[in-house]
Amino acid sequence: MIGEKRMANLRALMESVIADNVPGDFIETGVWRGGACIFMRAILYAHNIADQCVWAADSFEGLPVANELKYPADAGSSFHTYKPLAISLEQVRENFRAYGFLDQQTKFLKGWFRDTLPTAPIRQLALMRLDGDMYESTMDALTNLYPKLSHQGYVIVDDYHAVSACKAAVHDYCDANGIHPEIIDIDGVGVYWRKSDTTRHDSVSAALGPSGMSHEMQISSLKEALIKLTQMVIAYLKQSLTDRDGEVAKLNQSLADRDGEVAKLNQSLAERDGEVARLNQSLAERGGEVARLQKEVSVLYSSTSWRITKPLRLVGDIIRGSQGN
Ligand SMILES: C[S@@+](CC[C@H](N)C(=O)[O-])C[C@H]1O[C@@H](n2cnc3c(N)ncnc32)[C@H](O)[C@@H]1O
Repeated sequence: MIGEKRMANLRALMESVIADNVPGDFIETGVWRGGACIFMRAILYAHNIADQCVWAADSFEGLPVANELKYPADAGSSFHTYKPLAISLEQVRENFRAYGFLDQQTKFLKGWFRDTLPTAPIRQLALMRLDGDMYESTMDALTNLYPKLSHQGYVIVDDYHAVSACKAAVHDYCDANGIHPEIIDIDGVGVYWRKSDTTRHDSVSAALGPSGMSHEMQISSLKEALIKLTQMVIAYLKQSLTDRDGEVAKLNQSLADRDGEVAKLNQSLAERDGEVARLNQSLAERGGEVARLQKEVSVLYSSTSWRITKPLRLVGDIIRGSQGN
């Protein structure tokens, strides 16, 4: 769809960032059948680049219904009714496969830009090609991706001269962010500019916020602060986990000590029980001895009285004998 001039321009800009070692990946927002993206992936292949990739962002179901309240510039847009612009992800993948480029260096972001771009796992970009036709689509891409574009990276806006809403989005974004790019025409339809410190507002301070930082610097320092905060929270959570572990270990130790004490008490109770049993045993033995002694005494007593009364019995016998004579 983009024609030979815009293809040649795309190749020239890609080869420019490759030659200048501008870091980052490449993205097209609005891929349709995937033609320009496949071309971008092929340029990486031709330059033996294996550590950068091409992101293909699209709803894969056509353009969105205009949100006229939020984006009045899109009022009256009927792009969403153009069925030929709705090409499925499966079809686009198949097109990449046909060229041998359905691989790790091709990444798809399926969904409306407003949903996919804010959280897309893109770290840095060397070139961004915007081809979403509408104000919303152009604005969503600039808002979410331009801060990730490297210094000396390129922005290509495919519909700048063809769709006035698209042009309006570019200027609204640039004005709001104090960016005054040198916009270069490609073929009377598409344009591009190179991101650079020199494309900023003449008076740098105009681009700076109340803190003396540019919008991008503020975002990056906020990001840094967020990372630091996250690291502090993680450190705090780790520390409190360690403290809890220490407390749990102490509790386990004191439970073990108590168990030891209980075992000792049980042991001394068992020893006392043994002693009581022994005492009962010796009491029973003494009882038996006392009974035996009592018996012996009673035997002794009875035999002594027999002996003591023996003379009396003799006298009795004598008396009884004399009486009989
Ligand atoms: C003109 S076509 C893109 C042509 C393509 N770049 C090429 O080289 O052939 C526009 C594409 O943008 C997609 N699109 C436009 N706005 C979108 C949005 N807000 N979210 C997701 N996709 C969008 C449409 O689905 C469509 O595939």
